[in-house]
Amino acid sequence: MNKKNNGCIYTKQWVVDMMLDLCGYTSENNLSLMTIVEPSCGEGSFVIEIVDRLCKSCKKYQIEPLKMLGCIRAYDIDKDALAMVRKTVTELLGKYQIEQALVNNLLYDWFREEDFIEANIDKADLVIGNPPYIRATDISKELRRAYSKALDTFTMGTDMYIAFMEKGLKTLNESGKLCFICSDRWQKNQSGVKFREFLKNNDLYLSFNCQMHDVEAFEQDVTAYPSISLIQRGMSEKVDITCNSTFDCVSAKKIVDNFSKGICDTDSKSFNYIISNDNQKILDFPTIEEAGISMGIGIATGKDAVFITEDPNVVEEDRLVPLAYARDIKDYHFPAKPIKWLINPWENGNLVKLDEYPKLRNYFYEHEDELKGRHVAKKYPDKWFRTIDKLNTELQRQEKLLIRDMSNMTEPIYEDGHYYPHHNLYWMTSDIWDVEILGGILLSDVVYKMMEQNSVKMRGGVIRNQAQYLRKLRVPQYSSISDEDKVNLKKAFRDRDRTKATKICERLYG
Ligand SMILES: C[S@@+](CC[C@H](N)C(=O)[O-])C[C@H]1O[C@@H](n2cnc3c(N)ncnc32)[C@H](O)[C@@H]1O
Repeated sequence: MNKKNNGCIYTKQWVVDMMLDLCGYTSENNLSLMTIVEPSCGEGSFVIEIVDRLCKSCKKYQIEPLKMLGCIRAYDIDKDALAMVRKTVTELLGKYQIEQALVNNLLYDWFREEDFIEANIDKADLVIGNPPYIRATDISKELRRAYSKALDTFTMGTDMYIAFMEKGLKTLNESGKLCFICSDRWQKNQSGVKFREFLKNNDLYLSFNCQMHDVEAFEQDVTAYPSISLIQRGMSEKVDITCNSTFDCVSAKKIVDNFSKGICDTDSKSFNYIISNDNQKILDFPTIEEAGISMGIGIATGKDAVFITEDPNVVEEDRLVPLAYARDIKDYHFPAKPIKWLINPWENGNLVKLDEYPKLRNYFYEHEDELKGRHVAKKYPDKWFRTIDKLNTELQRQEKLLIRDMSNMTEPIYEDGHYYPHHNLYWMTSDIWDVEILGGILLSDVVYKMMEQNSVKMRGGVIRNQAQYLRKLRVPQYSSISDEDKVNLKKAFRDRDRTKATKICERLYG
């Protein structure tokens, strides 16, 4: 197939970024735990960004580069385009100092010169890309016959992208997501009937639809009625966006932000934003922050080996803050006495004067090279012993719920105001809520189902409880919960009685 009839139109970088962000494929996550498929990679608009994010993520989580094998599958039938993308990716991997033998292995593993529709593919967590633009009338008889055999929804009238959507969706594991920028004609026209039925029969939903007919999303001009469509399993909120020609990367960031928080902010000249839900009632509930709950992630130090200690004599006593660390949680409780301490260089929002703390001073100077090698120290050389985040003394003293990033269920843990959360825990506090009552709600299957829809699932069915997904949770207003339900939710939380918490929540959420 030559370039003229292989439906080749390349996607702009900011659109690629928007789609990857939307799916949670960001280097903040441990991407070595995910498998992503690009079905028609061309010269690599998506795949180059994917490789970059994967490398960054491995660096952040200190994962050896070998583990990147199996994380990406990129297909194309265009030899020249594949040669081009292989070359660019080789250069990119070189920048991450990956040795040549491994680069060769990765290229061999990641790239396939193969017809995506006919390829035999292992299940994936994410299928993302921009499938070829080939109209029904331009597809040869032979190809149509072959694809009709391989697929359920490919008929005489269907354009090529439908074949890619069906095959892509069949490639997903149970909790996987597909995100394509392609024509949205299938959503309404006759040739999309079979595909729409396929979605319904397989419990698949369009959860995000960003109509970009008037947006310059591609490197070439194209009249293809493009939309960014995110399809996933299970009941879900649907976000419908219509963009106008002023839509750009700034609006894209705003949309991704809205989507991750589950908020409907239509205050934009560039797009119109509507949220709907099969269970429309859920939208009557405020998001967790609207309901008066603050949340965030624990402290990142940039060098845990230096800033976290199990020896309470290493620096002055008042420089030690008991640290809530995910692995120290036993039976949903933190240890009665601290196991780990954070060595705290902060006081009232400023760095302490080292001369006033001789032990602290010696300790930091002993580790000077390690501390100065951190990105944050290079950025602020005169503050070379700072942690990445500042310490918020107030947070330590507050009653809070702490939630591990990765777990099979949403598992809030109560902390009564002694420990400071490490970066491997998310925290929630409130001036309005008794946090143990909130704990009862978060423990329920009702909330777990919301989390499942919102978050990215990793291998082994583990969900990510990241702030961006937690923020999308909707909870009842505290004042609307009866005293009896409050007592029972608190008891269910203390007893870790998920069944009881679920029963109450099913009633509260209607
Ligand atoms: C619209 S371009 C998209 C390229 C890239 N994903 C991007 O967004 O910049 C479509 C690509 O699909 C490829 N293609 C066409 N038919 C294919 C098939 N059956 N299997 C895999 N790739 C195919 C073309 O060679 C082309 O590179």
